Amino acid sequence: MRSKPLCNPARALLWLTLAMAAPLPALANPATAAAPLRTQDIALLAASCANCHGPDGRSTGGIPTLRGLPEAHLLQRLQAFKAGAAKDATVMTRLAKGYDDEQLKALAQWFSKKGQ
Ligand code: HEC
Repeated sequence: MRSKPLCNPARALLWLTLAMAAPLPALANPATAAAPLRTQDIALLAASCANCHGPDGRSTGGIPTLRGLPEAHLLQRLQAFKAGAAKDATVMTRLAKGYDDEQLKALAQWFSKKGQ
């Protein structure tokens, strides 16, 4: 008796296509994108900044402190990093690209409020 192969190239291609297509409707759904950020989500995003900028954005080293800076300044800097327009930047140009505009705004607001 000849056993059927479990996986042939055509079937593999079909699965690959399905796997790639599946998440797309979720990404394209504007309702998903517009979901407001919850405080705990922003806290989580901000926690990843602590490695370099210190706990709550209070730096003890050469990396700038974020805590208590004006929201408009933080947002302007983050947007400049993301756009690649901050010529003095090193790592932030890459990091800022990982966040959408809403997240950058939330982070700017978060750190500016930390000073109050
Ligand atoms: C790997 C270290 C590192 C991490 C992580 C990091 N930063 Fe930075 N950040 C820097 C450095 C270094 C600078 C100085 C500019 C440069 O060289 O890119 C900077 C500069 C900034 C500035 C400009 C401050 C000013 O007054 O000019 C802002 C705003 C900022 N970072 C926000 C953030 C936020 C928000 C996060 C978390 C999402 C974050 N950074 C995560 C290293 C880091």
